[in-house]
Amino acid sequence: MKDLQLKVLRNEPLSHNTWLMELEGGPVVDLLKPGHFVMMRSWKSLDPLGRRAFAVADATESSFTIMYQVVGRATALLSQVREGEEVSVLAPLGKGLFSTEGDKHLLVGGGIGMAGLTFLGKKLIRMGKEVLVAYGARTKRELALLHWLKREGFEVLLYTEDGSEGKKGSVVDVLDYVDSTWTVHACGPVGMLRAIKNRSAGRRVFLSLEARMACGWGVCLGCVVGKEKGGYARVCYEGPVFEASEVVL
Ligand SMILES: Cc1cc2nc3c(=O)[nH]c(=O)nc-3n(C[C@H](O)[C@H](O)[C@H](O)COP(=O)(O)OP(=O)(O)OC[C@H]3O[C@@H](n4cnc5c(N)ncnc54)[C@H](O)[C@@H]3O)c2cc1C
Ligand code: FES
Repeated sequence: MKDLQLKVLRNEPLSHNTWLMELEGGPVVDLLKPGHFVMMRSWKSLDPLGRRAFAVADATESSFTIMYQVVGRATALLSQVREGEEVSVLAPLGKGLFSTEGDKHLLVGGGIGMAGLTFLGKKLIRMGKEVLVAYGARTKRELALLHWLKREGFEVLLYTEDGSEGKKGSVVDVLDYVDSTWTVHACGPVGMLRAIKNRSAGRRVFLSLEARMACGWGVCLGCVVGKEKGGYARVCYEGPVFEASEVVL
C-alpha cells in the first residue's frame, strides 16, 4: 500500500449524479488488480473526516479510473476537483480479489456497484474468456455507466425494477439463464448480494462487499463482516471480495 498525491487527468459526469475520474497511475498502476480499491480525499479540512473508498474501475499502463456516485459531502467535493489538481490516495487496497479461473464469467452489477466489476470484465475479455454482463438499477435514469460500458465494447443485459429499460425485475434474475459452469461475480447493494448468495449453491460466486470504512487497511476494525465458520473478517483487508459461502450477509 502506498500513500500518494496523484494528479487528476479528467473528472467528468457520466450522468446527473455519477462521475468518472481518471488519475495518473504513479507507482501503483502496475500493482492494480480487479477487486482492488483505493481510499481517496480531495479536501484538506477535517470535515469530511477521513478518506473515502472507491473501486478501481479501469486501469491502463499509466493511469487508473474510478466511477463514483455523488451521495454526500465527500463525493460532492470530489466532483468539484479540476483536471490537473492533485488528490491524496492510498492504493492498492484489499487482499481478497476476484478470481479469473474458469472459462465463463457472469458479472452482476447493481447500481454504482457495476463500477466494481468493469476492470475485471476488461481483463477477462483480454484473456479470451466468455463474459456476460448484467446491469440493474431501479430505473433507466440510474443506469449511469451504460454508455461507458457500450463504448468499451461490453454486451450488457439490462434490468430495471420499473421496466423503463431492459427486462423488468431484479438483475439477480439473470441467474436463471446460466448454469453452474459459470463463475459469478457481483457487486452492488447488500440486498442484491444477499439474494445472489441465497442462490449460490453449486456455483462459484464471488461478492465484492462494501462497508463504512475509516482506515481502509485493517487497523480500525470498523468494516467487519461475519464469517459463516464463525468470527469476523475485515472487508478492507481480507476482502473486499469474498466467496459467497464464506460470509454472513
Ligand atoms: C470497498 C469499497 C468500494 C467502493 N467503491 C465505490 C465506487 O466504486 N463508487 C462509488 O460511488 N462508491 C463506492 N463506494 C462507496 C463510497 O465509499 C461512499 O459512497 C462514499 O464514502 C460516500 O461518501 P460521502 O461523504 O459522499 O457520503 P456519506 O455522507 O458518507 O454517505 C452518504 C450516504 O451513503 C451511505 N454510504 C456511505 N458509504 C457507504 C458504504 N461504504 N456502504 C454503504 N453505504 C454507504 C451512507 O449511509 C449515507 O446514506 C465504495 C465503498 C467501499 C467500502
Ligand atoms: S476500515 Fe479499518 S479495519 Fe477496515
